[in-house]
Amino acid sequence: VRVITGLRDIQATTDAIRVVGQRIGVVPTMGYLHEGHISLVQKARERSDVVIMTLFVNPTQFAPTEDLETYPRDFENDCAKAEAAGVNLLFAPTPREMYPPEFSIVVEPGILGSDLEGIVRPTHFLGVLTVVAKLFHLTRPHVAVFGQKDFQQAMLIRKMVRDLDFDVEVLVAPIVRESDGLAMSSRNVFLSPDERSRAIGLSRGLHAGAARIAGGERNVSSVKAAIHRELPAGDDINVDYVRIADPEFLQPLEMLTSGTSVVMLLAVRVGKTRLIDNMVVPVPQ
Ligand code: PAF
Repeated sequence: VRVITGLRDIQATTDAIRVVGQRIGVVPTMGYLHEGHISLVQKARERSDVVIMTLFVNPTQFAPTEDLETYPRDFENDCAKAEAAGVNLLFAPTPREMYPPEFSIVVEPGILGSDLEGIVRPTHFLGVLTVVAKLFHLTRPHVAVFGQKDFQQAMLIRKMVRDLDFDVEVLVAPIVRESDGLAMSSRNVFLSPDERSRAIGLSRGLHAGAARIAGGERNVSSVKAAIHRELPAGDDINVDYVRIADPEFLQPLEMLTSGTSVVMLLAVRVGKTRLIDNMVVPVPQ
């Protein structure tokens, strides 16, 4: 796979691709690729002629207390996986070029950015939206693909594209799970074997919630109780949130309305590893 690191190089390359009328599909990642990322590449491939993967562990979306230094990295392996998945160009800029010392302009995520993930990670989405805006200007995609696992992130990126008039179609690909249900994440590598086995409680919780809703439950407290019963428990477990919300604005619901759909969103710290997961379900008539 061809690797480009320079900002002006990628712009010149993507300009040339557009000039000959080819469609560009971009898959933004922070590397340490797993099957979830590969599914995003496949979706991008269906909708474009040239697939660009960006690989950049973006420092501005990590708080000083978070895991920027230890975030898993394996550039050689990522190149091999990207190549095997059919990525045409891998854009891997340096932090120094992305954020030169005089860098100061950012994208402010608005009110949704301080809810849910934003409560625990107040500067996170400002970092995400700023880097995604930069990556869009550099790679000039017709279509960009993000994973549903980061539901709030995907929603904020869609909103940024709408509010700031980016000419990019944002697609969201379904969560890819391990065979036991754990949502794939680069951070799963941090889980000890014991934590790993208890982490499946997140997807079990979502399935329990979905079963209650499918069975006719309309009271959110009862659905949440069913979810909580499945979540891992213990001194090393911290449930940051369990929210049942409308999938459009992520506002918490108290009662569910038949014929709508809702999203169940979870964030749980298992030991030192923070896991998120979600599921969108219909509320039957
Ligand atoms: O989802 C991610 O991996 C990151 O938040 C993203 C979108 C690549 C921005 O750094």
